[in-house]
Amino acid sequence: MRISSTLCRLAGGAFAVSFLFESALAASIEQWKTRTVYQTMTDRFARTDGSITAPCNASAGLYCGGTWQGTIDKLDYIQDMGFDAVMISPIIENVAGRVSYGEAYHGYWPLDLYSLNSHFGSKQDLLDLSKEIHDRGMYLMMDTVINNMAYMTNYSNPATSIDYSVFTPFNNEDYFHPYCIITNWNNFTDAQLCQTGDNQTALPDLYTEHADVQDLLLNWTRDTMSEYSIDGLRIDAAKSVTPAFLRRYSDEIGAFMTGEVMQQEASIICDYQTNYMGSLPNYPIYYSMLAAFTQGNVSVLVDQVQTMKTSCPDVNALVSFSENHDVERFASFTDDISLAKNAVTWTLLFDGVPFIYQGQEQHFKGSGTPLNRAALWTSGYDNSSALVPVITTLNKIRKHAYRMDSSYVDTASYNIYEGSSEIAFTKGVEGRQVIMLLSNQGTSSTPYTLTLPATYNAGTNVTEVLSCKTYMVNEWDATLVVDMDSGLPRVFFPTALMSGSGICGYSAANLSYTQVKTGVTTSLGTKAQQLTGQAALGAFFLALMTLVF
Ligand SMILES: *[C@@H]1O[C@H](CO)[C@@H](O)[C@H](O)[C@H]1NC(C)=O
Ligand SMILES: *[C@@H]1O[C@H](CO)[C@@H](O)[C@H](O)[C@H]1NC(C)=O
Ligand SMILES: *[C@@H]1O[C@H](CO)[C@@H](O)[C@H](O)[C@H]1NC(C)=O
Ligand SMILES: *[C@@H]1O[C@H](CO)[C@@H](O)[C@H](O)[C@H]1NC(C)=O
Ligand SMILES: *[C@@H]1O[C@H](CO)[C@@H](O)[C@H](O)[C@H]1NC(C)=O
Ligand SMILES: *[C@@H]1O[C@H](CO)[C@@H](O)[C@H](O)[C@H]1NC(C)=O
Ligand SMILES: *[C@@H]1O[C@H](CO)[C@@H](O)[C@H](O)[C@H]1NC(C)=O
Ligand SMILES: *[C@@H]1O[C@H](CO)[C@@H](O)[C@H](O)[C@H]1NC(C)=O
Ligand SMILES: *[C@@H]1O[C@H](CO)[C@@H](O)[C@H](O)[C@H]1NC(C)=O
Repeated sequence: MRISSTLCRLAGGAFAVSFLFESALAASIEQWKTRTVYQTMTDRFARTDGSITAPCNASAGLYCGGTWQGTIDKLDYIQDMGFDAVMISPIIENVAGRVSYGEAYHGYWPLDLYSLNSHFGSKQDLLDLSKEIHDRGMYLMMDTVINNMAYMTNYSNPATSIDYSVFTPFNNEDYFHPYCIITNWNNFTDAQLCQTGDNQTALPDLYTEHADVQDLLLNWTRDTMSEYSIDGLRIDAAKSVTPAFLRRYSDEIGAFMTGEVMQQEASIICDYQTNYMGSLPNYPIYYSMLAAFTQGNVSVLVDQVQTMKTSCPDVNALVSFSENHDVERFASFTDDISLAKNAVTWTLLFDGVPFIYQGQEQHFKGSGTPLNRAALWTSGYDNSSALVPVITTLNKIRKHAYRMDSSYVDTASYNIYEGSSEIAFTKGVEGRQVIMLLSNQGTSSTPYTLTLPATYNAGTNVTEVLSCKTYMVNEWDATLVVDMDSGLPRVFFPTALMSGSGICGYSAANLSYTQVKTGVTTSLGTKAQQLTGQAALGAFFLALMTLVF
């Protein structure tokens, strides 16, 4: 990936020799748009001993033993589902000790930026994880805290009891805003200047308006991304970071980063995207998705899609998600597996970079924090259970649609049908579009047919990729009459373009649109794709030498 993007830049002529010597070739928004991301929380994902029985009491909030080495050993599980990027929880050293609700297992309580969290392993382990991820052609994203440090006051007054000298490199009160606790989260100034912590764990708020703080954070980020070959960042608590610094930070780091602003107003998210950072988790769509699939109101989602489209510069650069480590698991609202399948279909096929949070594929049920952080190993990493097969197929069709048309990830979804309990959206250019038909009726729904207008051209055969059933679009009125059952989602793609998708018995190969269209699947092009990373690197140096000498 990194090599081929370098080659692309070389081919495109937009290159300078100097970039060769930068070790960080992090990936851009455009590159991330083609990816789907699996979010892990290192302490809760996998252990070095591979145990699937080690106890982990999520409500106690203590370290449970997950490691970077454990993550390496379970990369097959992630990759077999079709993900091509992994986001890991924060890596740096956190405060030791415990408060009534636990320890820093999640990584959001920074103490020393220049050391790693030894609970998760050694520097070599993290380097190995990065290498293993990249050897698989996957991207590595790092969750990152730049808003605050952490200090356990354990009920003593945070205004007077924080010893700032313990922090690295921010070892002095001057690097922080004066103590105050956020009292009104709707007052953004308050959220930016005051602390997000409480009176057990204070989260001293970095003075991110100050150039010294900014420079230290920028240098640390550049060094860390370079050291561990990190391709992108999630910025924790971005709402609490001064916006002008977010702008500078994302401009100077350059790589894809998505900043957490937990707001359901499209106007706020779109304002941030316009002015401060290219990407944010799409919370407005998240809340509307819940309305559609857990509260029975599909029109809220249809309306929100339209609002986002007209207010945001680029919905496709936002992060599409239905669970993360901060929100209630979908299955805590409803246990219904068909509804969960509709939610993951929406998440993976709507506009944006899709993220699936560990455990979502196993239909974990934990309500809010910390219950949404149960150890994944208790599932036994069963790759036949719950949502795993559905997610695997959806990842394949998303990737295939992109191979059939590289503009797929930049096209906007639009609504083609709204019933009282069903919605359909199309995404992609005419003839190569993916159409999803979703329902909020749930598993108890009985069979019926639904007539979709405005799908593909009359007479087109289309494959419903989740059931492998083929339909023909009616020749006389161009409607698509779909068999509905058990509230299951339906996802369509033209049958004539299924080769190479790896779905429903079609071969899994990296075929181009022309190859699929003409049925010619052996060519120099396919051979070139088989170049190993090293061969590609060799070709690259050859090309470079030709240019230089
Ligand atoms: C889990 O931790 C909670 C909170 O500390 C405690 O109340 C509960 O008894 C623990 N459960 C088990 C099974 O140990
Ligand atoms: C499930 O995991 C096993 C190994 O545990 C692997 O052999 C198999 O290919 C996986 N199946 C799928 C569909 O990914
Ligand atoms: C906080 O107080 C509790 C109860 O006295 C104690 O167990 C714990 O170790 C203390 N934590 C810290 C960080 O001092
Ligand atoms: C918002 O918060 C800031 C900082 O705490 C405070 O100075 C300001 O008065 C607040 N504004 C409103 C409208 O409450
Ligand atoms: C700690 O915070 C809680 C809630 O914010 C508050 O009710 C309580 O009085 C505080 N305790 C101390 C010792 O400051
Ligand atoms: C950041 O790095 C630059 C370039 O290495 C260096 O000149 C500068 O002093 C560093 N700034 C801080 C605050 O460490
Ligand atoms: C769905 O929500 C919208 C907006 O809140 C509301 O106007 C509409 O009446 C709701 N529809 C149903 C069926 O509840
Ligand atoms: C679509 O499928 C039908 C029945 O399987 C077949 O007769 C027809 O030729 C197909 N149409 C196209 C355009 O491939
Ligand atoms: C698939 O083929 C395209 C076009 O030849 C190439 O750019 C891409 O790197 C290939 N992807 C993989 C995973 O081999």
